[in-house]
Amino acid sequence: MDPKERVGELLHRALEEIADADDEGALERIRISYLGREGSLTAILRSIGELPPEDRAPVGKRANAAKNQLESALETAQEALSAIPFEAPVDVSAPGLPVDRGTRHPLRIVLDEVLDIFVAMGYSVADGPEVETEWFNFTGLNIPEDHPARDMQDSYYVGKDLVLRSQTSPIQLRYMREHAPQLPVQIVGPGRTYRRDTEDPSHSPVFHQCEALLVDRGITMGHLRGTLTEFARRLFGEHVNVRFRPSYFPFTEPSAEVDVTCTSCGERGCPACGGKGFMEILGAGMVHPTVLENGGYDPEAVSGFAFGMGIERLAMIKYGINDLRSFYRNDLRFLGQFGGGLR
Ligand code: DAH
Repeated sequence: MDPKERVGELLHRALEEIADADDEGALERIRISYLGREGSLTAILRSIGELPPEDRAPVGKRANAAKNQLESALETAQEALSAIPFEAPVDVSAPGLPVDRGTRHPLRIVLDEVLDIFVAMGYSVADGPEVETEWFNFTGLNIPEDHPARDMQDSYYVGKDLVLRSQTSPIQLRYMREHAPQLPVQIVGPGRTYRRDTEDPSHSPVFHQCEALLVDRGITMGHLRGTLTEFARRLFGEHVNVRFRPSYFPFTEPSAEVDVTCTSCGERGCPACGGKGFMEILGAGMVHPTVLENGGYDPEAVSGFAFGMGIERLAMIKYGINDLRSFYRNDLRFLGQFGGGLR
């Protein structure tokens, strides 16, 4: 056979075989049979020297072109085969993908701590509705209609006599009226509260409070002071002191604002506490006789103390946060910093 035709025929066959090959082993066998040391195209290339001189150049050219074409066809086929995905068997014993469980919100962490402290001191947890009657939110707490104290708590009315509670104090009244004349009354009442305030670094129209109430025979301001000192030390550390400043609340007499040692400067005075060395944490006092009466208790026979604190404020002091709005922005980089693993 004419050596040029022979090259053409070999190339044609090889290309067909490559097209049929369905794994890399088959391609390798094709390569060896045409291009290997004993391969048929190799044999033609080797024998060129033996051809008549006028045939050498055209046959050589043709055979080299065939060799290049075969090599590139093999390479293309090889790439196509290795692109077919490898189907791994499913390993049912492999560990699953981690699931992000999230963390407790910093306000929840602080509230849980507050509740734990009081429950450990014998208090139980009570609650009340967020939509409250005017009577429970104001009147029953000795804040008469038209009294300027209602202005201090600019509130949202949702009906003639219905208000989004502006404080957790109505929980005191509800609990007493349900349990009178049982003694002692010893509760904490956490919850969400609402005021018509514009958002700024220290105000939010929705915020959280926790109320506390203790009523029994012979309760004095001394018990209040001891309880608050113990509470502040458990929450902020043994080194803190509490300070009472005279104040006014319609539902307590006498009333006090209660401060704790500034957690940034330890009473030396710094920008965080405005140079005062203390930070205000809550309002407190001895329950007003009218409120005891409205709760169904005899103010001649029993007495009690109460206080109410803002959870946002406690969390800001505890964690050194200066903008309350950070609690509501849902930025996980912020919210994840407080170690609130789910429990
Ligand atoms: N309810 C008050 C407020 O929101 C806080 C408060 C003060 C609660 C004195 C009390 C209390 O129970 O005795 O500002």
